[in-house]
Amino acid sequence: MSSKDRVIIFDTTLRDGEQSPGASMTGEEKLRIAKALERLRVDVIEAGFAIASPGDFAAVKAIADNIKDSTVCSLSRALDADIDRAAEALKGANSGRIHTFIATSPIHMQHKLRMQPDQVVEQAVHAVKRARNLCADVEFSCEDAGRSELDFLCRIIEAAIDAGARTINIPDTVGYAIPHQYAETIRQLLNRVPNADKAVFSVHCHNDLGLAVANSLAAVVAGARQVECTINGLGERAGNAALEEIVMAIKTRADLLGVYTNIDTPHILSTSRMVSGITGFPVQPNKAIVGANAFAHESGIHQDGVLKHRETYEIMSAQSVGWNTNKMVMGKHSGRAAFRSRLEELGITLAGEAELNAAFARFKELADKKHEIFDEDLQALVSDTLAEEAPEHFKLVTLEVASKTGEVPQAKVVVSVDGAEQHADAQGSGPVDAAFKAIEAIAASEASLQLYSVNAITQGTDSQGEVTVRLEKGGRIVNGNGADTDILVASAKAYINALNLMQAGAPKAHPQAADV
Ligand code: KIV
Ligand code: ZN
Repeated sequence: MSSKDRVIIFDTTLRDGEQSPGASMTGEEKLRIAKALERLRVDVIEAGFAIASPGDFAAVKAIADNIKDSTVCSLSRALDADIDRAAEALKGANSGRIHTFIATSPIHMQHKLRMQPDQVVEQAVHAVKRARNLCADVEFSCEDAGRSELDFLCRIIEAAIDAGARTINIPDTVGYAIPHQYAETIRQLLNRVPNADKAVFSVHCHNDLGLAVANSLAAVVAGARQVECTINGLGERAGNAALEEIVMAIKTRADLLGVYTNIDTPHILSTSRMVSGITGFPVQPNKAIVGANAFAHESGIHQDGVLKHRETYEIMSAQSVGWNTNKMVMGKHSGRAAFRSRLEELGITLAGEAELNAAFARFKELADKKHEIFDEDLQALVSDTLAEEAPEHFKLVTLEVASKTGEVPQAKVVVSVDGAEQHADAQGSGPVDAAFKAIEAIAASEASLQLYSVNAITQGTDSQGEVTVRLEKGGRIVNGNGADTDILVASAKAYINALNLMQAGAPKAHPQAADV
């Protein structure tokens, strides 16, 4: 296949993915994910929306300064201040891109922007020119293109390309498109926009009707050569097109689609796990490619067929996306070198010796409780170690829980609040409820618990439990995570992690908001 058959993979996990309610990530977590995306050989990493908050700016800058093999991109509305801030954050990038957008559908122009179509074209052209003066690589998006009029799209796209945009993105912002119709839009645009050959056409599909991946692939068949997607399909509302599904569909059905990507697919699973661990959004077991059951055969007929000849029931190999590559199970006799090397194979590089030592100490503690340590355990352990290094207003010191048939569960906690230990005890309808009430007696956060979920990280009763706690206060949502072989301790850690996130986070602007 020639280079014109290459589909550019633009990952927006760190920007659109982070717009999932509760999926906010710290700067350090974003950098860790960006490094995993670089290792996956993602072409473009949308690192954030630089003007949204000082934290977003710092994260885009850190990613731009550290990532060398992928293009690093910042989103900006078609406003001077946004564009200048994006350019500033991208200064250190080897290869940077400014992604500027304005809404083009009648409903958005009339009710959100309160602008006439002519004004929208003028603002788009001004924005693209300003961005091009600051950065050679500029992408322009027609927000809500899925509900925009074709003639108007042709007009604004031609003007944006003339102004210097080299990528034109046609987002289905509200997940309204149907594959054959969306493909036809792309085909029409490629035929009707006179300077279409001077830009790469890109698609960005939301999953409100469960069609994000199907729409993206239909658009590729119609000639789109960039797909915007996220790991695990994370994203605003029902999410974005899932990177792993797009990439594996293109690879598995190259016979039909006739295109390819540069993604190094064996790193898909570890990246998926990293994103799930950091955001606290578990992957459903039957999720394509990365779900626990994606390659599990339950029926005897299927098992028999796969054992005789794998292709009888498998269209791609589990190894090709990173399953079953764990050749080495770690245990308490494993040394620091093996530990470091396994982390590196999982795409985890710790910043320095101090971080490695802290993670190794936790590994030894875990190995005393748990016979075999799997990759999933290592990923949870590192996430936990790094999370503990984030500013901790609250810290769990001890937890004691009494639960007996026929009696009301009781919990006693000691929590250090900015270094001063405080004690509380509480009763609850169950041991977790009692523990949370005791912590809340100290924290008095008044946040409401929106989600509590426990996942066994690996198999067996000695598995670590990974707990996610989602708290909401005043419209702000955070997800806290905790892992431990004792699920009550994991629960308390997750609750405290959520309280710390609630305490730390500064509010940030949403890219689709009318004003910053
Ligand atoms: O969904 C959307 O339209 C977006 C744009 C900002 C590209 O995320
Ligand atoms: Zn989007």
